[in-house]
Amino acid sequence: MQALRVAPKIYIFDSFKEFHEEFNLGKGDILVTNEWMYTPYIKPLGTDIPVIYQEKYGKGEPSDEMIDAMVSEMKKYEYDRIIAFGGGTIVDICKILALEPAEKSVDLFTGKKKPVKVKELVVIPSTCGTGSEVTNVAIAELKTLHTKKGLAVEETYADAAVLIPESLQGLPDYVFATSSIDALIHAAESYLSPKANPFTEMYSLKAMTMIMEGYKTLLKKGNNAENRKALLKDFLLASNYAGIAFGNAGCGAVHALSYAIGGAFHVPHGEANYQFFTEIFKTYMRKNPTGKIASINEIFANILDCHVEDVYDELENLLNQLIAKKPLREYGMSEAQIDEFAKMTVDNQQRLLANNYVYLSDEEIRDIFANLY
Ligand SMILES: [Fe+2]
Repeated sequence: MQALRVAPKIYIFDSFKEFHEEFNLGKGDILVTNEWMYTPYIKPLGTDIPVIYQEKYGKGEPSDEMIDAMVSEMKKYEYDRIIAFGGGTIVDICKILALEPAEKSVDLFTGKKKPVKVKELVVIPSTCGTGSEVTNVAIAELKTLHTKKGLAVEETYADAAVLIPESLQGLPDYVFATSSIDALIHAAESYLSPKANPFTEMYSLKAMTMIMEGYKTLLKKGNNAENRKALLKDFLLASNYAGIAFGNAGCGAVHALSYAIGGAFHVPHGEANYQFFTEIFKTYMRKNPTGKIASINEIFANILDCHVEDVYDELENLLNQLIAKKPLREYGMSEAQIDEFAKMTVDNQQRLLANNYVYLSDEEIRDIFANLY
């Protein structure tokens, strides 16, 4: 059994200047980023590589329309290396832009066009959540098909993942909270996955500890950009470790169930995940309290300095200071959607549900939606 694979080379730099010195940005490169990231970090380097500002092609999560528009703009330039500098949207889009273009990018997601990697891809994440720099998952909304679909093949791995902690300096408080909670959940879900092994567990455990300890330190002082500065490297490393863990062992029910809420009400991914996190872990506990979940609870209890029986309450007390946990109806969910979302999850998310700590029946998945409604 293959235990661990990290496909891209991983680099870490203290500054963009150091990154530029080693990667020598110039002819043959194209940068895909947001203008608000370009101005403080790339512009001072004095490079004159072409820049594509993703925000010009649409807001929010990646879509096939956005990708198609960017493909036709990028045809104007000659390049063989794409530098993707941004959050999950930019990174996922660039995984597709590094492939031989399809007439319509939707064809790459449906399998009509075979993915062929034709450009080198360098990813610099600007959030501390997705771990997308080390995974091969690219998710996009396929507007023509009215669905969201992921592409995860060998060709969608980046060639280099570049970690530069200062790139997180401008993160708004809320984006910091949602992205880092997403990373915490990647670590926790992959730890409990049946595909976990001693290597992925090591990455999961380190990520969980770094994120939780970071929260404790931060929340004592207040979650703001100034107080976060000293912790940015830890959070960036932790989200990368969690990415390595779930890239190999997978995520489970928390991600599977949260897609229904995220998709229907446009709730940011990390916030949607948080709504399901403790409820699903409580369900796991009821079904098999003596397996690996006992060790994860002990780890959380040690960090939170509480009794293991109180661990989920204390975990919520901590995380609620970052994101509010609220009933799903407050997002606009109706009672009838309890059944609808449960069915949708069972029908579409088997890839993730296969990584659950214990088997969850259709009825138990329905109960989770009902309990949170
Ligand atoms: Fe996630």
